[in-house]
Amino acid sequence: MYDLLRLLADSTRVRILAALEDEELAVNELADVLEMSQSRISNHLRLLRGAALLRARRDGAWTFYRTALEENGDRDTLWSVVRHGLRGNAELEADVARRQRVLEKRRQRSRAHFARASETLDDLALATGTLREEIVAAAAPRECVVVDAGCGDGGLTEILADTFDRVFAFDHAPGRLAAARARTPHDTVTFAHGEIDAVPLADGTCDIVFLSLVLHHVPRIVDALREAWRVLRPGGRVVVADLAPHDEESMRRQRGDLRLGLDADRLLADLSAAGFDRPHARPARDRVLAGRAELCIFLADGTKPSLRRRQSKKSKPKPKTKQKTRSQA
Ligand SMILES: C[S@@+](CC[C@H](N)C(=O)[O-])C[C@H]1O[C@@H](n2cnc3c(N)ncnc32)[C@H](O)[C@@H]1O
Repeated sequence: MYDLLRLLADSTRVRILAALEDEELAVNELADVLEMSQSRISNHLRLLRGAALLRARRDGAWTFYRTALEENGDRDTLWSVVRHGLRGNAELEADVARRQRVLEKRRQRSRAHFARASETLDDLALATGTLREEIVAAAAPRECVVVDAGCGDGGLTEILADTFDRVFAFDHAPGRLAAARARTPHDTVTFAHGEIDAVPLADGTCDIVFLSLVLHHVPRIVDALREAWRVLRPGGRVVVADLAPHDEESMRRQRGDLRLGLDADRLLADLSAAGFDRPHARPARDRVLAGRAELCIFLADGTKPSLRRRQSKKSKPKPKTKQKTRSQA
């Protein structure tokens, strides 16, 4: 505990932990947030990792860091006390604002790529070509309103239009969207320009949100999942298809990927954090062919709890504070 207190007695390390507590960042991104050199930050990262306060995730040639506090109750409690004492701290608030700008830069990088590029899933070579069938099979019932988030040039939209009553498809790249519109001019499909973390739909208006090969492009995955949760009706589902972690650095350069695949366990944790019940992941049969490599794909889904379930969760007494339940009140 003494060593831990010494580590937390340094303001730079506290700022690093605060910046990484609910988002992973690479060293160069942390350097922008803290306005410090990468080498200085790397030294602190080494100490924090040595004390198991941080976990590192390799992503090709990049490494992303995130806090690992929840894995240890004592550390988590101590950090909560430190964090509470630092509420309203001007330096940390300035870091939050700069972190927002760093995440915005990620979005710009991804958007700039899709504004130039013409590739989508259509020219991502697939090993078996079954991916879209697998995605659609993950969703039922069929009589419903579905959202194709980050629809690209509409390869999946076309199949969704043949399968579901109504489709709302959006993308933030105007060129991709125009291609999708031209490909599926059905009157049951509505196309719109939109951001995945600011979906142009009212709350609770659809039954299934599909996120096909798009989350590895978004700056902050949990924000995208929260938006999916917001636009779903109670009982609605989110279906994700994405690449598993891989080492094909060319995907970052040539395809504008912000992450070289997603860790399924991390995605399940993000689905829970966004409010989804029963998050579940499984491998897809299909794979993406990238040069000589075959990149694995996984499918994941989660359900927005029904109102009754959410109410009964809310009215459950909290273990420590002995609240009255509805029936007692
Ligand atoms: C690899 S394509 C996948 C297209 C389609 N979902 C499919 O499975 O064929 C990724 C698409 O996501 C879009 N995209 C990336 N980030 C986005 C964001 N933040 N908001 C909306 N669309 C986004 C890109 O413009 C691109 O068209």
